[in-house]
Amino acid sequence: MTKKWTAEGIPSQAGRRVLITGANSGIGFEAALELARKGAEVILPARTQAKADDAASRIVQQVPTAKVHTEILDLAALASVRSFAQRVAQKFPGQSLDLLINNADVMALPKRDMTEDGFERQFATNYLGPFALTGLLLPSIKVKQGSRVVTLSSGVSHQGTIRFDNLQSEQVYKPMFQAYAQSKLADLIFSQELQRRLTAVGSPILSTSAHPGYAVTNLQTGDLGIGISLMMKLMKPFFSQDAAHGALPTLFAATAREAVAGGFYGPDGMGELTGFPKAVALAKGALDLVTANRLWQESERLTGVSYSDLHVAGEFRS
Ligand SMILES: NC(=O)c1ccc[n+]([C@@H]2O[C@H](COP(=O)([O-])OP(=O)(O)OC[C@H]3O[C@@H](n4cnc5c(N)ncnc54)[C@H](OP(=O)(O)O)[C@@H]3O)[C@@H](O)[C@H]2O)c1
Repeated sequence: MTKKWTAEGIPSQAGRRVLITGANSGIGFEAALELARKGAEVILPARTQAKADDAASRIVQQVPTAKVHTEILDLAALASVRSFAQRVAQKFPGQSLDLLINNADVMALPKRDMTEDGFERQFATNYLGPFALTGLLLPSIKVKQGSRVVTLSSGVSHQGTIRFDNLQSEQVYKPMFQAYAQSKLADLIFSQELQRRLTAVGSPILSTSAHPGYAVTNLQTGDLGIGISLMMKLMKPFFSQDAAHGALPTLFAATAREAVAGGFYGPDGMGELTGFPKAVALAKGALDLVTANRLWQESERLTGVSYSDLHVAGEFRS
């Protein structure tokens, strides 16, 4: 990539239907806005109807012609993921989605917290929820060139390890560099493994991933604990960018013609913290195929969502 890629590079999204999780704030919101600007119809689920409505009205304010559907989704609760996926399939029957962006997450919760399903909250929200959602929505994704599943990871994935004896942080809990890092490494592994499985069935659907560097969003305003908060504050003036710039790697992974199967995109600046989209290296932990396969099996078991329907994604219908 010689010329810097910006939102102007997004091809027309007219006639395309996209679903973005966590699009009521930060990077997800900016990505939804740009896709709507380019003509996409956007499905925008949030944790509450009020948050979804607020985001939808902010998009329509800027893009009066935008077609935005609001929904409720809690990725940390499998029952919510299942009922959401069912509602999407009912509202938009058949192969009806062009793009799914797994963007929502929570970061570095200071204390280990468990969900109603018995999973550690970051692993549940950031990884198991999106794993289940993607599996349930796969039959809704159009089997044609241009269809994509984009999964958000993080530079912190380089610090992550998948420990099968500590997936729910039951042995050790360190908010950022263990629990969060593991969940974001799992996202990367998922994206790669999904691509391998799609390729194996001859599917034209692409699985790509992205990370935004350090983008100033609500992610840094939650209860992060003193150490992480201080680190974020110290870095902010020198090594951060706004959410709109942070959304560019996502938008590249989601729409750029140059994006490739299994591609991982992040900012091109120092330490991949700021800048414009470029292909970036996967964390070492994302390269181990044995781990990838085992994590997949374990995720199917934990979520009860089987990808046995994957062949549907391979029936080429353009
Ligand atoms: N910002 C960065 O510097 C940075 C760095 C590395 C990676 N990332 C990645 O970028 C992505 C977007 O993050 P962001 O920075 O834009 O953060 P953000 O502004 O906090 O957005 C996160 C979104 O996820 C939603 N969410 C949280 N828990 C959820 C749940 N249980 N169910 C459904 N939605 C839920 C939030 O909804 P609520 O409004 O209800 O909380 C919010 O809409 C994440 O995947 C993150 O890992 C960001």
